[in-house]
Amino acid sequence: MQIRQPIVSVLGHVDHGKTSFLDYIRSSRVAEREAGRITQHIGATEVPKDEIHDICCHLLVGKELNIPGLLFIDTPGHNAFTTLRARGGALADLAVLVVDINEGLKPQTIESIHLLKSYKTPFVIAANKIDLIFGYKSAKNKPFILNYIKQGRRVQERFDELFYNLVGNLTTEGINSDRYDRVGDFMRTFGIVPISAKTGEGIEDLIMVLGGLAQRFLDEELTQDDIEAPGEATVLEVKEEKGLGKTMDIILFKGTLKRDDTIVIGGREVTTTRVKAILKPKAMDEIRDPREKFLREDKVYAATGVKILAQNIENVVSGASLKVVRQNLNEIMEEVKEESTAHVETEEEGIMIKADAIGSLEALAKELKSEGVKIKSAEIGDVSRKDIITCATKPDALNRVLLGFNVKLLPDALEERDSSDIQVVTNNIIYKIVEDYIDWQRKKKKELEAGSRLEIVYPAKFLFLPDHTFRINKPAVVGVRILSGKLRPGMRILRQDGKVFGRIKSIRSGDENLKEALMGTEVAVAIENAQVGRQFKEGDVLYTDIPATDAKKLKEINLSIEEQDTLTEITNIKRKSENFWGM
Ligand code: GTP
Ligand code: MG
Repeated sequence: MQIRQPIVSVLGHVDHGKTSFLDYIRSSRVAEREAGRITQHIGATEVPKDEIHDICCHLLVGKELNIPGLLFIDTPGHNAFTTLRARGGALADLAVLVVDINEGLKPQTIESIHLLKSYKTPFVIAANKIDLIFGYKSAKNKPFILNYIKQGRRVQERFDELFYNLVGNLTTEGINSDRYDRVGDFMRTFGIVPISAKTGEGIEDLIMVLGGLAQRFLDEELTQDDIEAPGEATVLEVKEEKGLGKTMDIILFKGTLKRDDTIVIGGREVTTTRVKAILKPKAMDEIRDPREKFLREDKVYAATGVKILAQNIENVVSGASLKVVRQNLNEIMEEVKEESTAHVETEEEGIMIKADAIGSLEALAKELKSEGVKIKSAEIGDVSRKDIITCATKPDALNRVLLGFNVKLLPDALEERDSSDIQVVTNNIIYKIVEDYIDWQRKKKKELEAGSRLEIVYPAKFLFLPDHTFRINKPAVVGVRILSGKLRPGMRILRQDGKVFGRIKSIRSGDENLKEALMGTEVAVAIENAQVGRQFKEGDVLYTDIPATDAKKLKEINLSIEEQDTLTEITNIKRKSENFWGM
């Protein structure tokens, strides 16, 4: 049995210092060389135990770490965290959440917290850029706890204010936290380590806390019964490399990988191929931008990040699972296929969701489910015209919704959306998609309720029964028999001579208030703004007054023969004064 090194994801808002933090550890300048200074690709760096002991020379004296090192993964934003899966969960065993202490929590920080919580990944918070706090005298390479006490009182106050603001905002996100040296129980409280990726202050404290977390939480995950077992890995990225052709950066999280091994990889299609070469960046070097040449290896052990040369890897995508085959090829192909499928519970009726990768699709579905949102279909890929059409033809207006994470609308989909009655929300922050959707849903429900109150006026013909005047006016209450159609409160009344009067206030049968009275029934109706003997009298045959626009809509509705006849009679009355009424 052997302990492998934990895989540590570095997460946080753009520009808060994730790459700089790793640069500091490996004394490199990856962040400076990045296009637009923004991380575009996922990277990996190994920090062996000896290096950890060197870095932590002030705080670790006399103590021995029982992990062989740390394998850091640098990510372009939070997206990579969901992309990089291992057996359906997160690939990372641990995480560092980097927050600029001067800026506090930002959308991508909050998103990262959501993800870490949902994957139950232990993490430590790095409150970065403390050197920028006004007056702070940052000490190069020194532990934070030894340097903080040397700051003046005013500076300490300024620091504490920013620090406790951060603690407060974390509480709002459901994270109970404190300065790491004050945390008694890391099971209940998240540690915050103040650092500067520029001067290196606090990096030592941070590495030490990570080592501690690994020892405390990951015994089981990190213990390998058989380090020679067939390897299991996750693909970081597939890319063309000058002089090498198509290559794959992978993180091996279990077992071994050898040159000439047969491997099965997921993706758009399950691929079987052979490892032509294994290239390993030197320890403390970044796989995506190494300073030194890769080492060619015949065999590597988990956990490690390596580049593989192999053929036929066109269909492999980031986040795909990779397995070494020593026997049972078919079985392993099935496993990989299963792991390369998104697991989202779908319902008979519901909305449509799309995302850029399996992990992010599952993460979006999970957040929506916790809000009680029903999903009918979940797919990977950009939004097509067909998606919009499928969505727009759903019977329930509340389900004519497409939510997309990190995907774009193809040009003909954009066109189709603009001419359809459908709600499309896309964003690269999951919780914003969920918030936007919930907002829209609330508004739409209100709108639909208001709409249904303004229903179409139906044609109705009714007789004011002789000897059935219960009240003459304010309001008039009379007994009627419905001869045809349906009578509802709110309708106005039309006389045979074309005059319109009154408004039906309510309809009663015995003690019961009715929403409508149907053909053949006798009911009592209360009529506002009408007086028996003035606008109407017993024995009158009356109609409902239909707005001309409703008359047009009624033609598209399945009316009964009696209703159609009544509508014709109403139309004839109306056309005495308005030749083209209802046309
Ligand atoms: P993305 O990968 O694009 O999300 O950004 P990132 O989080 O990797 O940030 P990066 O490391 O690229 O740093 C962003 C900027 O902040 C750079 O200009 C860094 O030099 C600067 N920076 C990072 N950490 C510190 C720090 O502790 N102190 C100071 N003063 N500047 C810092
Ligand atoms: Mg970066």
